[in-house]
Amino acid sequence: MAAPAGAASAQAPGRLIDRFGRVHRDLRVSLTDRCNLRCTYCMPADGLAWIPSPDLLTLEELTRVVRIGTELGITEVRLTGGEPLIRPDVVDLVTRLAALPRAPHLSLTTNGLCLAALARPLAEAGLSRVNVSCDTLSRETFARLTLRDRLPDVLAGIAAARDAGLTPVKVNAVLMRGVNDHEAAALLRWALAEGVQLRFIEQMPLDPQHGWNRAMMVTRAEILDQLARAGFRLAPVDDRGSAPAEEFAVDGGPATVGVVGSVTNPFCDACDRVRLTADGHWRSCLFAHGEADLRALVRDGGTDEQVAAVMRGEVLRKQRAHGIDEPAFRQPERPMSAIGG
Ligand SMILES: C[S@@+](CC[C@H](N)C(=O)[O-])C[C@H]1O[C@@H](n2cnc3c(N)ncnc32)[C@H](O)[C@@H]1O
Ligand code: SF4
Repeated sequence: MAAPAGAASAQAPGRLIDRFGRVHRDLRVSLTDRCNLRCTYCMPADGLAWIPSPDLLTLEELTRVVRIGTELGITEVRLTGGEPLIRPDVVDLVTRLAALPRAPHLSLTTNGLCLAALARPLAEAGLSRVNVSCDTLSRETFARLTLRDRLPDVLAGIAAARDAGLTPVKVNAVLMRGVNDHEAAALLRWALAEGVQLRFIEQMPLDPQHGWNRAMMVTRAEILDQLARAGFRLAPVDDRGSAPAEEFAVDGGPATVGVVGSVTNPFCDACDRVRLTADGHWRSCLFAHGEADLRALVRDGGTDEQVAAVMRGEVLRKQRAHGIDEPAFRQPERPMSAIGG
């Protein structure tokens, strides 16, 4: 039998601290590995061998695992996937997480397709803000990049998120060489006009096709150069903290643009992230080669203390850095969509 809810809280079970002294406060939770787009850098056209539905954590299991995380010092929870908004119980989940005794700050990363319908219910349930992925402003390029003609839905989703107060709305963009790599300046002009915060993300080797290639990646330096050549004045904003994005004030501010140089300018030293996969595995890093099966433990009647011990143990095994740019780097088995991006 599982220990009653809240049993661990009285015992101050410690925090999630690794061997390098990094304190983990930010949990990324993948709600599903499935998706209604097929971004070519993330998923093959035919999809993947999806995690069987019974293997996904239920609403109750997700709530319990996150609660135990909050008792270990998690203060920030980001729901992601795959596409988190295709889970029918996503609004219920937000309601439950927002009602936890140590309710974390709740955000969500989405492709935006279902956001026009869900932005308001999510905000009312307790979600604070969203990141919406949008790599291009050209409908034709969007269809080529995601294999679905859905750009208008994404733009409607972004507008709905802003109207619902899920602000600041951040927009994630991955540039791909020969596809949308000429769009950095146009995306920034659009983001400034729309009042959303744009963040470019370097493409990482997390695709199931293993098609990532260092030479094809559009780097942080290229992005900054493209923006400067388009006439933007960018000034670094001090104190990145544990945020993956380097922020730059645009034309004197207050608007900013972010660049997540995961490969060429990694932020591992300040990383405070842990991850829960859609099938309930606890990972200390996107690029980790090990993970702990919390689902089995939870379904076998593990107590809160046992779950907390496994969480802490995995954090203790966390590597100092992902090493993508080193010769010995090995891509993890699981793709981004299953781990949770
Ligand atoms: C995996 S998605 C999951 C959430 C949602 N489906 C979305 O697209 O926003 C999260 C973020 O990861 C990014 N992403 C996916 N694969 C990537 C890769 N190989 N390198 C860098 N970013 C990637 C996406 O562009 C998106 O902004
Ligand atoms: S990046 Fe997000 S929207 Fe695109 S295929 Fe991956 S999970 Fe789906």
